[in-house]
Amino acid sequence: MVRINENYLRLPASYLFSEIARRAREFQAANPDARLMRLGIGNTTEPLAPSVIKGLHDGVEKLAHVETYSGYGDEQGDAALRRRIAEVKYGERGLAIEPDEIFISDGAKSDTANIQSLFDPFAVVAIQDPAYPVYVDTNVIAGRESFVSMACTEANGFVPSVPSIHADIIYICSPNNPTGAVATRANLEAFVAYALANDAIILYDAAYECFIRDRDLPRSIYEIVGARKCAIELGTFSKEAGFTGVRLGWTVVPKGLAIDAKNPRSVNELWNRRQTTFFNGASNVAQSGGLAALTPEGRHENDAIIELYMANGTVIREGLQSVGLTVYGGTNAPYVWAKCPAGYDSWAFFDKMLDEAHVITTPGSGFGPGGEGFLRLSAFGHPESIRRAVDSIRSNVRL
Ligand code: MLT
Repeated sequence: MVRINENYLRLPASYLFSEIARRAREFQAANPDARLMRLGIGNTTEPLAPSVIKGLHDGVEKLAHVETYSGYGDEQGDAALRRRIAEVKYGERGLAIEPDEIFISDGAKSDTANIQSLFDPFAVVAIQDPAYPVYVDTNVIAGRESFVSMACTEANGFVPSVPSIHADIIYICSPNNPTGAVATRANLEAFVAYALANDAIILYDAAYECFIRDRDLPRSIYEIVGARKCAIELGTFSKEAGFTGVRLGWTVVPKGLAIDAKNPRSVNELWNRRQTTFFNGASNVAQSGGLAALTPEGRHENDAIIELYMANGTVIREGLQSVGLTVYGGTNAPYVWAKCPAGYDSWAFFDKMLDEAHVITTPGSGFGPGGEGFLRLSAFGHPESIRRAVDSIRSNVRL
């Protein structure tokens, strides 16, 4: 009899967002007339920008002709797209990232899940608490048992200090999912200094960097001196260009990552080996759309959509504040982090929002014990649905 990977038994029975979807379905079945409003998973709702649609059409059109048809592409991604990401996301900001340090993928979630496979199974992993569940779950599946929890609390503005003990791998997400907090330059400098002193690697999840409006806040870990020696950065088109369904992301693995000097192969080479073995490259059509998203017109159009989501964030923040809730985030991030009223834990407040306002949210405790007592609300949505949801909370939730 084949034995399963018993590490799966160490995970919660279902993935957070699957559990929320299940509860929402159950509620809908029991209340068929209720019109549910979704502020749960951070799922984009606005149509793709016209330039991106054209880029996708161009990608399809190429597949229609023998002269331009392409089958498998480079596993690392289309060279032109790697160059454009290097230029637009890093070069323009004065950051030196080479195209061959950029690996295109089918989205940041896959890379975030897979990147840990490059490291020792006994590595000590430091993770923010609360955090995007993929960080913990994938390390548990890989059999890792040594975790250092970095508490994100109201007291530290949800940005933790560096661990007080040794860690090998450090996950940082900024702007943060779920709290909406953004690490300052000083915060990131402390993490880079810690990583260099501990021969550790930072896995920097920059999925929400496009929501940073405050020019003093860093948008890439590579803005910090020394980060090229200790940090991998994960980026995505999902939130910035509405590719949650199209699927496209990238990971930066600097060639000079100074990890474990005894090892004969660089992390960049290992990730290349991993991707060429497990992955056949992102969709060529999606990559054509990604190229278009990073043209001046594409960026301009996408900025307008990002602004729309940011305005939703303000509506949610102000709506929740007006009913007396304490809220965080939602200004340089698409997530609002609301404190549950006295007497409610995260799931109880989730149920209350669902039962009384018909609004789906995400219970903070789903992101780790540190999220208990909070609820996350996503600013991704049509403005009118967001307004309806906030009005419903104001009129129907009895606090
Ligand atoms: C979230 O809601 O936390 C994210 O949308 C999930 C994801 O990006 O995978």
